[in-house]
Amino acid sequence: MRRPTIAAGAVAVALLAFLVAGCGGGKTVGAVPDTVVGTLATTPSPDASLPALTLKGDATAGKQVFASGGCGGCHTLKDSAATGNVGPNLDSTKPAFELVVTRVSLGKSPMPAFSKAKGGQLEDQQIADVAQYVSTVAGH
Ligand code: HEC
Repeated sequence: MRRPTIAAGAVAVALLAFLVAGCGGGKTVGAVPDTVVGTLATTPSPDASLPALTLKGDATAGKQVFASGGCGGCHTLKDSAATGNVGPNLDSTKPAFELVVTRVSLGKSPMPAFSKAKGGQLEDQQIADVAQYVSTVAGH
């Protein structure tokens, strides 16, 4: 939720600069509207920031992602023979696809963000895959 706030702030600043320029009489102001256009994301749908939500995951591929991604170091998941206890036991919480995509994409300290867009190591498709896997096998 930080970006929209920043964008709104930028708009406010630009608007203010515009108003000041209007009253001040002809001084060139740095904050031209062009500066704002790029950051002015229209109210983003959840899908816009989490592309993996729009993809169909493959649970078999996701099992590999779970193993190679190091998820088991922090999470317990019986299907993957994972016994980590830093994060929640996924067999107990049985997270839905959407929650796995969200956590894996964005992280939640101390869990790191895995999305490449966030500096992580997983492609959107891999995130969809691991989410499909976890949401399917958790609790079984
Ligand atoms: C460094 C340890 C660590 C690693 C690695 C890690 N997680 Fe997590 N994970 C956590 C912690 C801690 C939380 C709890 C965050 C919170 O809600 O405060 C969490 C939360 C979650 C949740 C939400 C669980 C719930 O029911 O609230 C899911 C789903 C999840 N992780 C999946 C994964 C997957 C899949 C991977 C591998 C791609 C992974 N995690 C890697 C530590 C980790």
